Amino acid sequence: MPKIGTVSGVTGGTGALVEVNNPPLLTVYHVGGGFKMLTTASHCARIPRAVGSQIRGIHDLLNVSGKPIISYGPPGRSASGGHVATVFGCTGFLGRYLVAKLAKAGTQVIVPYREEDEKRHLKVMGDLGQIVPMEWDIRRPDQIAECLRHSDTVYNLVGREYETKNFTFGSVHVDGAERIAQIAAESGVSRLVHVSHLNASALSTSAFYKSKAEGEERVKAAFPSATIVRPATMYGYEDRFLNNIAEWPIWWKLNHMKTKVRPVHVMDVAQALSNIFEHPSFPGTVNLPGPSELTYEYVLTLVSSVTYRPPSRIPVVPKRIALLAARAAQNIWWPALSPDEVERRYINDADVPGDWDKVGVEPTEIEDSAITYLRRYRSATNSHRAN
Ligand SMILES: NC(=O)c1ccc[n+]([C@@H]2O[C@H](COP(=O)([O-])OP(=O)(O)OC[C@H]3O[C@@H](n4cnc5c(N)ncnc54)[C@H](OP(=O)(O)O)[C@@H]3O)[C@@H](O)[C@H]2O)c1
Repeated sequence: MPKIGTVSGVTGGTGALVEVNNPPLLTVYHVGGGFKMLTTASHCARIPRAVGSQIRGIHDLLNVSGKPIISYGPPGRSASGGHVATVFGCTGFLGRYLVAKLAKAGTQVIVPYREEDEKRHLKVMGDLGQIVPMEWDIRRPDQIAECLRHSDTVYNLVGREYETKNFTFGSVHVDGAERIAQIAAESGVSRLVHVSHLNASALSTSAFYKSKAEGEERVKAAFPSATIVRPATMYGYEDRFLNNIAEWPIWWKLNHMKTKVRPVHVMDVAQALSNIFEHPSFPGTVNLPGPSELTYEYVLTLVSSVTYRPPSRIPVVPKRIALLAARAAQNIWWPALSPDEVERRYINDADVPGDWDKVGVEPTEIEDSAITYLRRYRSATNSHRAN
């Protein structure tokens, strides 16, 4: 027979939920000013925040304001773990998958955005009030500080593959990253996860990779316990890899298709980032290359065989011509292949071991999911073929 008890002080905001007795017999939902629901709730098991690692850090007990972190609610999307995370760069390709994973685990996620429409899809990834959009500008320290004021964890996913008239690689990957790290350190954020690139190197011939390496150094100087995550080229629905190969095979034939890549599934990277959240502290660098090293030739053949399109017969464009074309393309007003991207098409992915075991993820092979992302490039007659 369930016991009914009086619960006082349940004023912790919309959606607060309290369980009394152990195992829980009574659950009271407090929704916007009145008790709306009373249930016996053995299904409402409470999940402790650090369930993955069973290790607790201070940020699992107190939030940045020094208040105790209390998890409540049923498991899953409607849970509230008491944690708040800010995901800078959430409006991009990787960002949406990370926000979905964090929100699904009951973390309140601050989603800084620049363009109103870019954050609309994020809003529905969490329960009411769990996804909090905030407008920001990477050049405005006050707005960065406002975005991470209540957060115990900050992710920086901000990056750009090409420069614009307003932002150079340096202003985004170096100055912007340093600014976020400094403000996070000053604000008492306990975990900073900075996303760089597997090929980040101060000696690289690519300005993009160089800026990523310099950004890492600045972040480490400003926030010594930061986790630097280095994924290889990612693929998924919104990628600029499989989609681009399917649309513009000519630009992937550079270097006679001999360049080696280690493509990684965006879901695996998002899972790794979300698993880091479970660790009290994760300083250092985490390399996340895909499980296999492939040549562009192999990937072009894979795309061609999955889409049932004949391989491109266009001859290989010499580097000089490709650079000239890319420079000329910078005069149009939509993003086109940049000279630095041409340069990157000649650089093999770094031959370093992956740190997947550290983050508890087993990376998937590209052949296993390529069909999911490439089926749309098939002709109508081929679209329903099994594989
Ligand atoms: N995609 C890959 O294959 C790959 C591989 C390795 C590493 N990475 C790195 O992983 C991170 C996420 O990659 P992604 O593919 O998700 O990138 P993405 O789709 O290009 O998204 C980049 C994000 O950064 C934001 N951003 C770019 N320039 C900005 C600026 N000047 N001010 C404020 N925000 C700015 C974008 O915001 P807006 O929506 O407002 O533009 C967007 O949210 C990046 O750091 C990238 O370099 C990517």
